[in-house]
Amino acid sequence: MTKPIYILNGPNLNLLGTRQPEVYGTVTLDKIQDGTAAHALKQGFSTVFRQTNSEGELVDWCQEAARHACALILNAGAYTHTSIALLDALLALDIPIIEVHLSNLYKRESFRHNSYVTPAATGMICGLGAQGYLRAIDALKDILKRPTPNKADTD
Ligand code: DQA
Repeated sequence: MTKPIYILNGPNLNLLGTRQPEVYGTVTLDKIQDGTAAHALKQGFSTVFRQTNSEGELVDWCQEAARHACALILNAGAYTHTSIALLDALLALDIPIIEVHLSNLYKRESFRHNSYVTPAATGMICGLGAQGYLRAIDALKDILKRPTPNKADTD
């Protein structure tokens, strides 16, 4: 049995639907979870989908992903821009990591332009709203077929 794709979400993403709808839209995290799980299943993947407001819990789950996941999709919320602990946890992983953000970070405040996740990620998707999670699944389908899954075709 293939291991699941872990989809981990950081702080305040539990508030999607009502939180700054002009930035994040009106889709709830529950709806994103349902849509992503259904899309993944069509591609032959099971998923583990979680959200936490706690930095330590997010680090714990990344460590868990090292043992139990075939790949990681991560929207670390604001910890993206602050957490060296998260970067260190991700650098210890040997599975593909896709960083996802609903909003386009580069159209926003300059403090959102730096990500501690990106240096450890295989790739990054931002600005596509909830679609970003689906596109991350599509990318992983392709990446996981490669002989060395965390390398790009052009390496
Ligand atoms: C976010 C972008 C982050 O800058 C912000 O702190 C979030 C959400 C996004 O999905 O667009 O909480 O990760």
